[in-house]
This record gives sequence, C-alpha cells and structure tokens, in this order.
Amino acid sequence: MQSRRRLFLARSVKLAQLAALASVCPGGLFGSAARGQIPTGTTARYPFQLGVASGSPRPAGVVLWTRLIGDPLDPTPVSDGPLQVRWEIAEDAGFRRIVARDVAAALPELAHSVHVDVVGLRPDRWYWYRFMFGDAVSPAGRTRTAPAPDAMPSQLRFAYASCQHWEFGEYGAHRHIAAAEPDLVAFLGDYIYEWGPYRRRHPATASGRDIESFTLQDYRTRYAQYKSDSNLQASHQAAPWIVTWDDHEISNDYGNDRDERRDPDFLTRRAAAYQAFYEHMPIRLGTLPARPDGFAFMRIHDRYDWGRLARFHVLDDRQYRSYHACQPQNRGGSSSVTSACKERVLAERTLLGREQEAWLAQGFASSTARWNILAQQTLMAQGSQIPAHEEGDGRFWTDGWDGYPAARARLFDDIVRHRVSNPLVIGGDVHTFYAADLKRDFFRPASESNPVIATEFCGTSVTSSSRPQSRTDQMLEYNPHIKFGRSDRRGFVMMEMTPQRTYANFQALDDVHDVDTGMTTLARFVVENGKAGIVRAD
Ligand SMILES: [Fe+2]
Repeated sequence: MQSRRRLFLARSVKLAQLAALASVCPGGLFGSAARGQIPTGTTARYPFQLGVASGSPRPAGVVLWTRLIGDPLDPTPVSDGPLQVRWEIAEDAGFRRIVARDVAAALPELAHSVHVDVVGLRPDRWYWYRFMFGDAVSPAGRTRTAPAPDAMPSQLRFAYASCQHWEFGEYGAHRHIAAAEPDLVAFLGDYIYEWGPYRRRHPATASGRDIESFTLQDYRTRYAQYKSDSNLQASHQAAPWIVTWDDHEISNDYGNDRDERRDPDFLTRRAAAYQAFYEHMPIRLGTLPARPDGFAFMRIHDRYDWGRLARFHVLDDRQYRSYHACQPQNRGGSSSVTSACKERVLAERTLLGREQEAWLAQGFASSTARWNILAQQTLMAQGSQIPAHEEGDGRFWTDGWDGYPAARARLFDDIVRHRVSNPLVIGGDVHTFYAADLKRDFFRPASESNPVIATEFCGTSVTSSSRPQSRTDQMLEYNPHIKFGRSDRRGFVMMEMTPQRTYANFQALDDVHDVDTGMTTLARFVVENGKAGIVRAD
C-alpha cells in the first residue's frame, strides 16, 4: 500500500511538472531542436469538437484552452504522442491585428488538452483567439483582460452559474449567457455530475462500473460529453471564465479525503477527478504555488481583481474541510441533524481549512476593491428545516455552511475586523435562487445590535433538479433573514456592478427541457455602495 501510494505521488509530481511546463513554455518541454519534430499534422476528424475557452483573467494575461479529440464519446486518444497546436490572439474579431502567436504542446498525459498562459496583453480590453492544427481551425473565442490594478472601471457585468447536470435538461441558460455578452462568467461548481442516469443519458463509462465516473478515463469522457454541447461552448466563447469546483466534479458530498462510501482508494479517484478538471478548465497550474504532490492536491482558491471596482475571492470548500458532522458509522457524506449533534458546533471545525481561512483574511485586509465578492459553492445563510428561535433549535443540512457554524462565524468576524468594503456572497449548489441578509446571529434577525454583515445572492442550477417550492416557502418562513427563495426555476444570475451600486438579476428559464427556451428576470435586487442587505429593485 505504502509503495503504491509513493508511485501514485511520483506520477502526480511528473504530471504537474509537465502541465506547468506545457502551459508556459512548450518549447522548453521538448528542446528547441526537437520542437519542429512534434507532429503538427491532421486528424481524420475535426479536432476542436469541444470548442475553446479562456479564463482566469489578469490585467496582462489570460489562459486560453482547447483539447484535441477525435470523438467526444470515444476514449481513444487522438495520438499516442505529443502534438503541436498553433494559437493566435488578436485585437479584432477578423484576426487582422494579431498581438501574439505561438505553438503549444498537447500532451497525451493530459488528454491532449492545451493551456496557453498568454502574457503581455494590455489591461481592460477585448481580444479574440483561436487554435490551428493542420488544416483545422478552431472556432474563435472572445476574451478580455482585467482592468489595471489602480483603475476604477465604470462597470462590470458578470454572469454566474452552477450545477449543470447533463441529464436534467438543455443548456438554454448558456445560450442566454452567451447572448448577454458579459465581461466574465463565474462558474461555482458542479460543472459535471459524476453519477446518473436520468433523462439525457450519460454514456457508459470506461471503468464499466455502472455509469458513475471513477477513473481518469471516465472523468475525461464525462467532461468531453458535457463540452460537446454547443450552448456550453458558446458560453465559453463569449467571455473568460473564473471557475471553482464543488463535489460532483469528484464525488457526491465528499469532504477532504473521504467520500460517501468511505472508499479506501478514494484519494486515487480524487486525483483522477482533479486532473480531469485541470485538463478541461481554462486555469493556471504552473503559476500557482506548486505543491510537491501535484494532482493529489490541487490549489484552486485564488483572487481576481477587477481594478479597484471588484475583488473576487474564489474559494474551495471541498478539499480542506473537516469531515461532515455526526456521520453515520462506516459512511461518509452529509445528513440533516438537530442540536443532538454536538459535533456540528465545535469551534475547531473548518469548511475552508485553516490555511485558506488565513489566506482569505489576508485577501480582505489587502483589498482596495469597492465590492468584495466571495465566489463560493453554496448557501451561506443559516437555513433551518424546522422552526428555530434560539441557539439549540433547528435542523440543519451538514454539507454546507450550516455544518460548520463556527467557521462561518469566524468568516463574519474577519469581514467585520478588516472592514471589508461591500461584501457580496455568491453561491450555488442548492439549486435554488436565494437572497439573504447575512448576520452574526441568525436567531435574532430583527435585533439592532445584529447588523447585516454581508449580502448574499445564491443562484439556481443551470439544469439540476430541486425540491418543491412548498418546501422552499417553509424555509423562508423558518429563516426570516432569507428574503427570497425560488426552487422551481432553472437559470443563472446576472450581476451589474458600478462604483455606486450593484444589481443582481435572477434570470429564470421558461423551460429547461427546451433548448430554445425563453427567459425572464424573476427578481431584481439592488445593493447600494455602503448599504449591506437585500433590497428589491423591481
Ligand atoms: Fe449541484
């Protein structure tokens, strides 16, 4: 077992080094003499069937992504060896003013995915990019850089979304996101679902263990299937994405190194899922502080600044958390618990891990942004499932922040201590539109000594199903700090920020099963600069 783990870690190290090298310095990977020997040829089928993407925008750079593939549902690699892909980025959609072009390595070890970390771009402007392989030219993507650090942009429009179970509907939400031409898209987790089957059927997995993903090949096929959707591709092509993950990129309700089944080999599965996530997302690996164990761990929490207008604190609530409170014997995962579960309220419990908590506090302290956006996975407001009037009352789902109330209190204390400017919490996971006032003491919502610390807007799912509205109505009744809740609609949230105010638009699809579905704004809220709390604007 020991040596198997060492082998596994050694493989991870090599992969992480390869990935880092491939994204920043493809020539160095092969040596300049060998560079011309990397095949640049053709494939029998169009190799850009998963489209293109960009993301992780900085003032001077952005990550460009694609993956060469023959057939999204066929695990056979497009080649046994490395391939050389050409890319270019221009200031115009017609590619007349090209500002950079080069070749990038597509390695079989990384499923012939391509990550180009473009640097030297100008801040606060739009670019167009594309890839070439042999005679094949990819679709062009539109992307942009973040504004300069000292700039105060007059506005930022961004969409955020989460939870896009393939089998529960069509990606009409992404068609509408693309049509809105936002400055960026934040995706807050559950990009894929590792399990099934339901309506639009997942295909059988390579591991043959029903249709759930376990192996690297399984996860790769799952991503390829999702990314074959033209509306999802359009959403990626419209703007750079900022991404984090939740549980379903790996395994339902996992926490840290433990899954629901308490599979002794879960870390191997987790590393495969983390690697597949990297292979399919426009993210930097090489420039993040490297961990020696590569994909065995993967740092995805990060900060993104939009000049002095906004700072995104992008969080990872899965990898470092304390185990779910009061787990049943021999099982992992979450449950609903009352005050009989004493473990839930223990002070030492953490959802982000102590290191990430400290990093977040540092990000609060150093922020000069007007709006501080906590881009994280799930509902932060307390959400008791039964009437709860005082400490010790209530029944809580242990998978979200309610499973970690001491960590939530520490987060609120950090927001207050560092006088964080306009904290806005955005999330997903619960497949419900929620708008909530975040308070230090949820049991005394009306008390004047208990001000609103932050404003929360939780987005519904792109497709994934939810519970009946009657249960959400109950939730609103039992939790008066939650001002709005709709679980009967799918969609996304469109944010419009200016230095003076932010609007949050809850965008709801008419019919998730209709790819051409219409969309309406279900509710619109406004947050004025300096005034935390939920206010309707419609
Ligand atoms: Fe979800």
